[in-house]
Amino acid sequence: MKKTLVLKVDSLKPEIEKIRLAADFIKKGGLVAFPTETVYGLGADALNSKAVLALFEAKKRPLDNPPIVHVGDAKDVYGLAEKVPPKAERLMKEFWPGPLTLIFERSSVVPHVTVAGLDTIAIRMPRHNVALALVRESDCPIAAPSANLAGKPSPTSAEHVLEDLDGRIDVVLDAGPTHIGVESTVLDMTVDPPQVLRPGGTPFEILKEVLGDVELHPVAVAEEVVPVERARSPGMKHRHYAPDADMVVVEGEMAAVVDKVNELARFYMQESKKVGVLATDETVRRYRADVVKSLGSRSDMGVVARNLFKLLREFDLDGADVIIAEGVSTEWLGLAVMNRLRKASGYNIIRV
Ligand code: TXA
Ligand code: MG
Repeated sequence: MKKTLVLKVDSLKPEIEKIRLAADFIKKGGLVAFPTETVYGLGADALNSKAVLALFEAKKRPLDNPPIVHVGDAKDVYGLAEKVPPKAERLMKEFWPGPLTLIFERSSVVPHVTVAGLDTIAIRMPRHNVALALVRESDCPIAAPSANLAGKPSPTSAEHVLEDLDGRIDVVLDAGPTHIGVESTVLDMTVDPPQVLRPGGTPFEILKEVLGDVELHPVAVAEEVVPVERARSPGMKHRHYAPDADMVVVEGEMAAVVDKVNELARFYMQESKKVGVLATDETVRRYRADVVKSLGSRSDMGVVARNLFKLLREFDLDGADVIIAEGVSTEWLGLAVMNRLRKASGYNIIRV
């Protein structure tokens, strides 16, 4: 166990002495959790194998699932990637800093452990002043997966980070809750047309507008477990985002969903299970269960995405045995939300 130092920082104008303190830990091979616009990341010097190995250990993350490398300037990509296709340059101009991770062929300066032995590397420039200040003060690219224990919902606040990693990491930079709430979109630029491997904070519809031709990898929209050989992104095959409670997702037309959710809730409560329902503002008053929570209005997927991981963690704190979640639309951020819900349930999906 180490003592984890919690430093409160201003999210817009981070105090430079606190950033320097955190950056010193990174430079010495330590582990620093920090906010991005999507979720909190757990950072280590991406060029230091030992530090990255310690990062995997702290998260209990399988070694075959590489983290995203965060840069403070789009130019830094050229040192880390072997080739930067023109389409990628266009995306970097349009979307960085922002919630878009690009996959490139990697350069030989990147240690094997950082890319889990792959020939490719995932890179993004985050849109958060604390993250950018930390990368710049550390003077190295920062490898940072989400700052949760492997398999748990990603952290959208410093409190979530501490729930999972207190005593396992050196520092948490606490700048309050994150804005987007789901992780970045992962886009593979080593294939043409580029392919979305993980839907996220940059909606597919916008990428389509800019690129014209772009595809969704089958797992990005999966409604069942996709065989491993088809899973190009290593993270695809691991269970993810899962609360301790068993989970089921009910998808379909809203009225039918409400009836089915209530029927399931009755069934589980008769079995003496503590039942949680993950609802939306439009439906929340129509449920009878032990704990009912709303993600927000279906008309604002930004709010739904922002609340998702926080509410999944709350159900665990409430001691729910079962969570019954409503499906939502897969448009815009809804695609990322549904991808996380389906994965969290282990693809335990009921269609009505
Ligand atoms: O918003 C985010 O992306 C957050 C913040 C902290 O930046 N980070 C994040 O990292 O979600 P992580 O490690 O939890 O997810 C990284 C995803 C995984 O699904 C991983 O498999 C994939 O990116 N990935 C990393 N390197 C890859 C590569 N070379 N090829 C394909 N997929 C890769
Ligand atoms: Mg993660």
